Amino acid sequence: MKIEPFALERNQSLYENTVRFNLSDSGVHPLSLRQVLAQDECEEILSLSQGYGQTNGSPELRRRIAAYYSGLDEHNILITNGSAEANFSVIWTLVEPGDDVLVMLPNYMLVWGALRAFGANAIGFQLREDRNWAPDLDELRDRHTPKTKLIVVCNPNNPTGAILERDAMEEIVACARKSGAYILSDEIYRGSEFSGTDCPSFLDLYEKAIVCSGLSKSMALPGLRIGWIAGPRDVIDGTWHRHDYTTISTSIIGQYVATKVLEPRRRAKILSHSRSHLRQNLAMFSQWLSQHSGTFDFTPPKAGGMAFVRYHLPIGSTALVERFRTERSVFAAAGDWFGMDHFLRFGIGTDANILRPGLELASQTIRELGG
Ligand SMILES: Cc1ncc(COP(=O)(O)O)c(C=O)c1O
Repeated sequence: MKIEPFALERNQSLYENTVRFNLSDSGVHPLSLRQVLAQDECEEILSLSQGYGQTNGSPELRRRIAAYYSGLDEHNILITNGSAEANFSVIWTLVEPGDDVLVMLPNYMLVWGALRAFGANAIGFQLREDRNWAPDLDELRDRHTPKTKLIVVCNPNNPTGAILERDAMEEIVACARKSGAYILSDEIYRGSEFSGTDCPSFLDLYEKAIVCSGLSKSMALPGLRIGWIAGPRDVIDGTWHRHDYTTISTSIIGQYVATKVLEPRRRAKILSHSRSHLRQNLAMFSQWLSQHSGTFDFTPPKAGGMAFVRYHLPIGSTALVERFRTERSVFAAAGDWFGMDHFLRFGIGTDANILRPGLELASQTIRELGG
């Protein structure tokens, strides 16, 4: 089976640890275990027996996650190695060659590459820059067919940070109902809304919704590699069956920490930290942009650790990020990696002591280019 390169992750794999100022991440600057656990909990980890555990995730952790969605129990949850495995295995479970699948674009392109590798007809519908990144619902309806098996969204969205309005979510559900399609909603940025209120989940609106999420972004714990799939039991069973072939289980330490940090009060505390960190960095980023008036168009994100900007400079986005990296040791994500040339995605969730100097160095290249 052929699979196209996943440009964003490939470039991050190559470069994010080789630069001084990594501005390519979309989550919140990672926390340490000491910041999220009590001392006695850290000690307890030392005594945990390192078995495989329950391969679909401990019942306690699955119950804890299920409680965040209406009408679900532990049988509706599979614990995965990150939300990456979650997305991949849902697509593997549901998609047959020749199926029509509608995909919100721009998006985290794992879904696009995986759909095409499994032989689906991946058909985009756009978030529109001229509508503050609201979806083009006419395009969605026009491209929907009786063969549409799945509609894939990312809400809050990577890379724009946009959040669907409730009526747009309802329209997407109405469209899915017409062909009995599933909705795969990647909600990993839920919990980092700047407004302070979690946006609705598709699981609250549609019985054939499947949600992928995890601890990597809003919860600032990507190194734990804990993600999950929440959805109808038959789909969850199908993904567990595939999990037997891929990773078997997730780590016992990761599951232990996840069970602790997903206690409602602790989760709320971590999310409140994430939101205030993001608000401060967004303010710093906006101030930086104002030094380059006329060079950028910017619709501020409503959630997540990313700022997606259109730029007006005589250079393509891959070449521009290459210049930032090789000349200034600053690494940002190219719009090309999302199929959107002349855009850049800056990670604003990183530490302010990385973001500030990284942006100042990027300014030098931007000025050389006339911006
Ligand atoms: C929308 C989205 N889904 C999934 C992932 C992968 O997340 P994880 O690190 O939990 O595998 C990312 C990472 O950037 C993402 O942006």
